[in-house]
Amino acid sequence: MKNPDRLDGVRALVCGASAGIGRAIARELARRGARVTLLARRRNVLEEAREELEAISREHGSAGGHLVLVADMDDPDGTAAAVRAHLEEHGPHLVLVHNSGGPPAGPIVEATPADFETALRRHLFTGHLLVRELLPGMREAGWGRVINVVSLSVKAPIPGLGVSNTTRWAVAAWAKTLAGEVARDGVTVNCVLPGYTETERLAKLFEKIAGEKGTTPEEVARETAERIPAGRLGRPEEVAALAGFLASPAASYVTGTAIPVDGGASPGL
Ligand SMILES: NC(=O)c1ccc[n+]([C@@H]2O[C@H](COP(=O)([O-])OP(=O)(O)OC[C@H]3O[C@@H](n4cnc5c(N)ncnc54)[C@H](OP(=O)(O)O)[C@@H]3O)[C@@H](O)[C@H]2O)c1
Repeated sequence: MKNPDRLDGVRALVCGASAGIGRAIARELARRGARVTLLARRRNVLEEAREELEAISREHGSAGGHLVLVADMDDPDGTAAAVRAHLEEHGPHLVLVHNSGGPPAGPIVEATPADFETALRRHLFTGHLLVRELLPGMREAGWGRVINVVSLSVKAPIPGLGVSNTTRWAVAAWAKTLAGEVARDGVTVNCVLPGYTETERLAKLFEKIAGEKGTTPEEVARETAERIPAGRLGRPEEVAALAGFLASPAASYVTGTAIPVDGGASPGL
């Protein structure tokens, strides 16, 4: 019987894969035997990440063969075209990790329609077009996984993140609808909701808050950790562990969910 935790030889497209949570998910999928295509904007960082994945594959006795794809998810059509050409060259990718950089912070009353449009373009329109590119291959295989990296704000909006909260709920509603439409094709669609996770993005956010409050980023991190039941920030690999499970054959009956990885920070269930 095949190991239900493994993804040996399965091609996976991981977006936002040069840093933070996306890069940690790419490592986790490589550990499980997948051949990962790393997508983001910075080619040099992606090349470093690709070499790191090859080393992980060697260590775990799998074939490797990871690839790099440079694209800007602020340009949905351009990203979809790049992915289409990539699939034509390398064949179907049966796992899609839909992830990128989060929208800027700010009160919702100050947001312009253009701010919403920018965020929706990166987080919703690009993800939607990528699903449309990958879905025919998944349907043909009778197996596929779509994993959306969203945010804990899907459980309750976070004050001061107006555009982000709105966009995250749109993505979660899109994902839930999609899950129902493709379940009979053997394709699952789930959202992973990171809480406060130690990445470049969080470091920048803490610097900004510290500047506004006249304190240090370390102090902001300490105060944030105190508000989390687990008493600490999360690590990217803790989010990646859930994404790895959702990508695996073992998660075949888990679809249409939105699962927090937040040390208990979500106010509700
Ligand atoms: N960290 C947290 O505490 C936390 C909490 C809740 C939700 N989230 C959400 O989880 C997601 C990942 O967060 P993170 O903390 O891992 O962020 P991060 O450290 O800033 O990494 C973002 C990744 O996305 C890529 N990216 C950004 N803009 C892109 C674009 N236009 N096109 C293609 N790739 C792009 C970046 O690479 P390049 O710069 O090379 O393109 C990078 O690989 C974000 O949506 C974030 O808002 C994070």
